[in-house]
Amino acid sequence: NFPEKAVLIEVGPRDGLQNEKNVLPTDVKLAFIKMLGEAGFTEMEIASFVSPKWVPQMADAAEVVRHASPALRNIVLTPNEKGLFNALDCGCGAAAFFVGVSTAFNQKNINRTTEESMQSILPLVTKMKDRGLFVRVCISTAFYCPYEGKMAEEDVMEICRRFVLAGADDLSVADTIGMANPHEVYSLFSKLKHTFPETLITAHFHDTRGMGLANVFAALQAGVDRFDTSAGGLGGCPFAPGATGNVATEDVLYMLEMMKIETGLSLEKVLEAVRDIETHLEKPPASKQYALWKAK
Ligand code: HMG
Ligand code: MG
Repeated sequence: NFPEKAVLIEVGPRDGLQNEKNVLPTDVKLAFIKMLGEAGFTEMEIASFVSPKWVPQMADAAEVVRHASPALRNIVLTPNEKGLFNALDCGCGAAAFFVGVSTAFNQKNINRTTEESMQSILPLVTKMKDRGLFVRVCISTAFYCPYEGKMAEEDVMEICRRFVLAGADDLSVADTIGMANPHEVYSLFSKLKHTFPETLITAHFHDTRGMGLANVFAALQAGVDRFDTSAGGLGGCPFAPGATGNVATEDVLYMLEMMKIETGLSLEKVLEAVRDIETHLEKPPASKQYALWKAK
C-alpha cells in the first residue's frame, strides 16, 4: 500500500545553496530555479528571509522572489516577524517557519529557545491563515540533535499538534543531521499521518550517513507522499555541525520512477539543472544518478 503518486518539493535553491561558501550571483540562482521549474516541480523552497549576517548567501532573497519564475508554490523560509514582513512585501503567497525540537539546536540556529520560537511563530501562522496564505512549518532535529542527541517522539508530536491547531497547512519534519534510521522514520511518520490526517506531512531527509533513500522508503511505507529533496544532493544547515546535503532529488526521482510512483517530473531536466549549477559550487554535487549521467 504505497502511494501511487508523490510530490517532491525541491529545496535546492534554499537548503541546497544556504550551506555553500561561494555567494552565488542572483541571476545564477534564478536560472537554477527556472530550470528546476522546467523539470516540473510545483512546489519549491526558493530562498530564506533570514539575517544576512547569519546567512550571507540568502541576502538577495527579495530579488530572488521578485524575479523567480512563478511555479505553482514558491516557498520562502522565515524565522520571525521581520522575515515574514519582508516576504509578504515581495508578494510571497507561501512561507515556511522553522523551529528545532531541540532547544540547544534552536538557540544555535535562531538564537531563541524552542518555546520562545513557538510563542512568537504561532501567532504569525494564524496571521498568515487569516490572509489565506499557505503555511509550512519545518520541524528541525525531529530525530536527533547534534547537541542533545535523541529526541523524544512525544515532544515532536506536541510541537506539531500546536502548529496544526494554529492552522499550518504543511509540516516538513526533518532529520537535520541525517542520523535517523528507517525504523524511527516509520514510527514517527506513521504517528504523524494517523494523528493529523487533514495536514500535509512532508519528510525532509539529509543524507549524511547514506540513509536518505532507505528513509524515503520507510516514510512511503508509513503513507507519506511528500518529500523535500535537493537537486545535486546540495545542502545542509550551517548551524548543525556535520550536517551534509539533502537526499538528492535525482536519486529519489529514479527510485520512485522504478517503483512506478508518479511524480510528473523530468529526471533529465533535473540533471541538466545540476550540471549548470555545478560550475558555481565549491563542493561537487553528491548524487549517484548525476555521477552516472556525467560519466555517460
Ligand atoms: P538575532 O541576532 O537574535 O536577531 O538573530 P535580532 O532579532 O536580535 O536582530 C539582530 C539583527 O538581525 C537586527 O539587525 C535585525 O534587524 C536583523 P541590526 O539592527 O543588527 O542591523 N534581523 C533580520 N534581518 C533580516 N531578516 C530577518 C531578520 N531578523 C532579524 N528575518 C535571527 C535571530 C533569527 C535573525 C538569526 O538567528 C537568523 O537569521 N537565523 C537564520 C538561521 C538559518 O537560516 N538557518 C538555516 C535555515 S533552517 C534549516 O536549514 C533547517 C531545515 O532545512 C530543516 C532541517 O533540515 O532541519 C529547514
Ligand atoms: Mg534541511
